[in-house]
Amino acid sequence: MLPEISQDLSRPLDPTKVYQPTPVADGVASEAHELVDRFQRMLRRDAVSWEQNYSFVERLGAGGQGVVYLADRSGAFDVKFRLALKFFRPDGYSTVAAYRAEMGRLARVAVELASVQHDNLLDIFNVIELQGIHVLAMEWVDGFDLRYLLTPRTLDEVRATMNPARWEYVNDVVVTRTASQLRLKPGVATSILRECLAGMAAMHRNGLVHGDMKPANIMVKRTGNCKIIDFGSAFAVHDPPTRPLWTPRYAAVEVLEGAAHTPASDLASLGYVFYEMLSGQFPFPEASDGPELVQAKRQLAEQLPDRLPRDVALNDNLIQLLQGLIAPDPAIRFKSAEEAELSPNGASAFHRELIRSNLASEYENEIRLWLSELE
Ligand SMILES: Nc1ncnc2c1ncn2[C@@H]1O[C@H](COP(=O)(O)OP(=O)(O)OP(=O)(O)O)[C@@H](O)[C@H]1O
Ligand SMILES: [Mg+2]
Repeated sequence: MLPEISQDLSRPLDPTKVYQPTPVADGVASEAHELVDRFQRMLRRDAVSWEQNYSFVERLGAGGQGVVYLADRSGAFDVKFRLALKFFRPDGYSTVAAYRAEMGRLARVAVELASVQHDNLLDIFNVIELQGIHVLAMEWVDGFDLRYLLTPRTLDEVRATMNPARWEYVNDVVVTRTASQLRLKPGVATSILRECLAGMAAMHRNGLVHGDMKPANIMVKRTGNCKIIDFGSAFAVHDPPTRPLWTPRYAAVEVLEGAAHTPASDLASLGYVFYEMLSGQFPFPEASDGPELVQAKRQLAEQLPDRLPRDVALNDNLIQLLQGLIAPDPAIRFKSAEEAELSPNGASAFHRELIRSNLASEYENEIRLWLSELE
């Protein structure tokens, strides 16, 4: 019979359970005793350590800051757990010390983000330094980034698999093609916006700024939910980056003019993403940076109704929502991501309007079905 495990360790044994040891030979029984002994000693320590192996499955993507791999983390009994590993590029830093300093900052941001625990933010598991290279172990999101989803091929590829009624429904409710890229129908676009606003609000409440909101940094999961990813430009307001990295096309006007990133500038960036989803137009194709881009962003704010498809342009709530996000003057933007969601001209009000007009669908489900048709 196995010795009873002493009650002072972890949880007491369940007194209602009957532990019925299988009769075994003496040698085997002593091995079992030893295992129980090891178990007791293990729980008396206050730390454990083991080696970890990861094998690459495929490359998920790459950007200005690093390369992301889907990887299998090997566990006991030959099981493997899928996760994502991001390797941060050292090029672009003039010294090893500069790279390490920035990676240390990102590690501190990663810890703060992990403690936020919001469903619309990518979960971060660990920060690793491998031969001087900074590696982030994080949740793998099974889905597609929004940049990819807005490319016409994602709709072209599924067309052949749909019957005419489904095709018409998808074009009516979910996504349709424009001359340049795909446009999401307002209900679907607003559903994605709201999930991003929720994730962003949680970051801002915790003193964190994302700093690089754009379609490639929003993952749409196969469940139909969204996650904000890529915290490589994120920072804690009390610990700003020495070398901010961001994408001019989606940056707020004041950032293009030299101001620091703030929660308000995150809102503007998300506003440009929302404009892109609703219009089906790559924003500001005429300008890539500098004063022309600032000018183009100011003009967009003035000309919103003329730049949007009719069904969007005629909807006051949508126009006010967009204006509140992308206003060139941060002082007249929504005050916070919560306000963008909750105010009378916010995202939730638009959703309620859809319900009142009997036009609402279960958008998470619509997105889930659409993604299940991809591939
Ligand atoms: N956890 C993840 N799960 C699934 N795909 C991911 C994950 N992280 C990143 N990706 C994919 O890899 C791409 C690049 O990742 P990420 O944005 O983190 O790199 P980056 O170098 O910081 O990009 P950039 O600086 O250009 O924004 C993403 O756009 C996405 O398609
Ligand atoms: Mg990115």
